[in-house]
Amino acid sequence: MELLPLVCLCLLSCSGDGVRVVVEEDSDAVLPCSPSTKEDITAKLFDWKKDGQEVFMYDSGIHYNNGHGSQDLQFKGRVSHFQDQLMNGNASIKIQNVKMADSGNYICIFPRLQPRQTFNIELVVGVKVVVEEDSDAVLPCLINTKEDITLKLFDWKKDGQKEVFMYDAGNHYNNGHGSPDLQFKGRVSHFQDQLMNGNASIKIQNTKMADSGNYICIFPRLQPRQTFNIELVVGASPEPYITTLNETKDWSLLQCKVRGASQEPKVEWQDSSGNILPAEEPQVSERGGRYYVTINTTVTKTGRYRCVVTQKEINHQSRAETFVFISGASPEPYITTPDATKDWSLLQCEVKGASPEPKVEWQDSSGNILPAEEPQVSERGGRYYVTIKTNVTKTGRYRCVVTQEGISHQTSAETFVFINVNSSSVSEKVCEDCSSAVAFVLGAAVLAVVVAAVPFGLRATNCITVSFNQGAAPDPTTTSNDPTKDIPLLQVRVTGDHQDQNGSSNAP
Ligand SMILES: *[C@@H]1O[C@H](CO)[C@@H](O)[C@H](O)[C@H]1NC(C)=O
Ligand SMILES: *[C@@H]1O[C@H](CO)[C@@H](O)[C@H](O)[C@H]1NC(C)=O
Ligand SMILES: *[C@@H]1O[C@H](CO)[C@@H](O)[C@H](O)[C@H]1NC(C)=O
Ligand SMILES: *[C@@H]1O[C@H](CO)[C@@H](O)[C@H](O)[C@H]1NC(C)=O
Ligand SMILES: *[C@@H]1O[C@H](CO)[C@@H](O)[C@H](O)[C@H]1NC(C)=O
Ligand SMILES: *[C@@H]1O[C@H](CO)[C@@H](O)[C@H](O)[C@H]1NC(C)=O
Repeated sequence: MELLPLVCLCLLSCSGDGVRVVVEEDSDAVLPCSPSTKEDITAKLFDWKKDGQEVFMYDSGIHYNNGHGSQDLQFKGRVSHFQDQLMNGNASIKIQNVKMADSGNYICIFPRLQPRQTFNIELVVGVKVVVEEDSDAVLPCLINTKEDITLKLFDWKKDGQKEVFMYDAGNHYNNGHGSPDLQFKGRVSHFQDQLMNGNASIKIQNTKMADSGNYICIFPRLQPRQTFNIELVVGASPEPYITTLNETKDWSLLQCKVRGASQEPKVEWQDSSGNILPAEEPQVSERGGRYYVTINTTVTKTGRYRCVVTQKEINHQSRAETFVFISGASPEPYITTPDATKDWSLLQCEVKGASPEPKVEWQDSSGNILPAEEPQVSERGGRYYVTIKTNVTKTGRYRCVVTQEGISHQTSAETFVFINVNSSSVSEKVCEDCSSAVAFVLGAAVLAVVVAAVPFGLRATNCITVSFNQGAAPDPTTTSNDPTKDIPLLQVRVTGDHQDQNGSSNAP
C-alpha cells in the first residue's frame, strides 16, 4: 500500500459562525481568522486556543516562536502566523504536519478589541486508507489525550448513518450487545489491548468495493466530544510483477503484469529517471470486475527499470523495480602493438561501445598498474569508446583491465611481450632462443587462462593475446582493432562467458 503525495483537500465550509477546515493527515493546515474591522493588527494581541490548550499567541511583535509564553507541547515548533498579512488584519495561523490528534475546535481571540472578538474554527484531520479488495483494512482512531478508553464509549459509522462498530465499557457488537449494519456483520473488530492507549482503531476483514467510503469514529461522551474522519478506498492495485521473457547480450524483453486491480489502472514502464519507455500496446482484460494488465518493453542498456501502476480515481500508485544487465554493454578490450623495437613495445588497448563508462587500465602480471598515457575517451549514444597506451621495456605478461564499477563488471585481455635486448649480438642463436621462448610462451598462455580469474562480476569475457617481438626486427604492426592482424608468433585467444570464478573452463 502506497499513497501518492497528499493532494490537499482543503475544504472550507462555513456553518453558522464557525468555520470547518478539512485536511489530510501529514499535510499543513491554515486556520483562518480575520476580525471584521480589517484593521492593522501588527501592534495588537491575539491568541489561539484549542479545547483548553495554548496553540499560539501574538502580542505586538512578540509571539511563541520568539520565546514568548507557554505553548502546549503538542504545538511546539509547528505553528506560525503570517507576518506580512498582519497589516491586513489577518491573524490566520499555519499548523504543519497535522495529525489526527490536532482535530478539534480552535478559537482565535482578540481579548483587547472593543468589542472583544472570538472566532471558532473546527479542524478535521482526515486519514485516507487504501487497500486491495479482499484484504483487511485497519481504520485508525486515536484520542488526543491517549487516555485509557477501556471504560468509555466509542462508535464507528459509515457515510453518516450505517452502524459499523460500537464499544461501550467492555460491551460491543461482537459480544452480543447490539449489532451493526448487515454489511459489516462479523467482519469488524477492535483492538482490546490498545484501548488503554486511547486507540479505538478497528479492523474490517475481507474488504469489498462497497466498503469504500467515509467513516467517522466518535466519542460522544467525552468533553469536548471528539470525532475523527477516515476515508477508506478499496480496490488498490496489487504490486505489479516483473519477468524477463527473453534476453540476448544486446537487449532484454521485460514484461510487467498487474493481476486483479479493482479500478482500471494505467501501467507504464519507466527508466530510473522516471522517463516513460516506449512499450508495446498493453493487453488489458477484465474478469469479474477485476482488471488484468500486461505490458512489454525491450531495453538495450544496463540499468534500473520500473513498472508503475497508477490508479488516478483513487489517487494510488504502486510499482516494482528490476535491474537489467546488458552484457553487450562491456565488450572485451582489444590489444594491439602499434609500435615496437628491440628495446620496447608500445601496447594499445581499445574498448568499443561500453556502457556505463568503464575505467581502463594496463597492469603487469602482478597486478601493478602501469604508467600509461591519458586514455582517449569518446562517447556516442550513451556508449563509451576508450583507447589507452602503455610502453613496456621488459619481457612479461601484460593485462588490459576494464572495470564498470556501477554494474560490478570486469573484463580483461592479456598479451605476452618478449624483449630480446641481446638479439643483434647473438643472431646465430636466434632459433634456439626462439623455440625455448615459444615453449615458455605456451606455458604462460595456459597459465594466463587459469589465473585470469574474474574477481567479481556477473559475466566476464577474457581475451588473451600472446605475442613477442623478435629483437631488432619487429614484426610489422598495425593499429587495426583486430588483434589477429597483429601477426604475433603465437596467439591464444579465449573468449566466453565465465560463470565460474576461476575462469578455467574455457582453457584450450
Ligand atoms: C490570511 O493569510 C493567509 C496566508 O497568506 C491566506 O491564506 C488567507 O487567505 C488570508 N485571509 C484573508 C481573509 O485574507
Ligand atoms: C492502534 O492499534 C492498531 C492495532 O494494533 C495499530 O495498528 C495502530 O498503529 C495503533 N495506533 C496508534 C496511533 O498507536
Ligand atoms: C529470444 O530471442 C531470440 C532472438 O530474437 C529468438 O531467436 C528466440 O527464439 C527468443 N527466445 C524465446 C524463448 O522467445
Ligand atoms: C509480450 O511478449 C511476449 C513474447 O514475445 C508475447 O507473447 C506477448 O503477447 C507480449 N505481450 C504484450 C502485451 O505485448
Ligand atoms: C618507449 O620507452 C623507451 C625507453 O624509455 C623510449 O626510448 C621510447 O621512445 C618509448 N616509445 C614510445 C613510443 O614512447
Ligand atoms: C646480453 O649480453 C651481455 C653480454 O653478452 C650479457 O652480459 C647479458 O647478460 C645479456 N643479457 C640478456 C638479457 O641476455
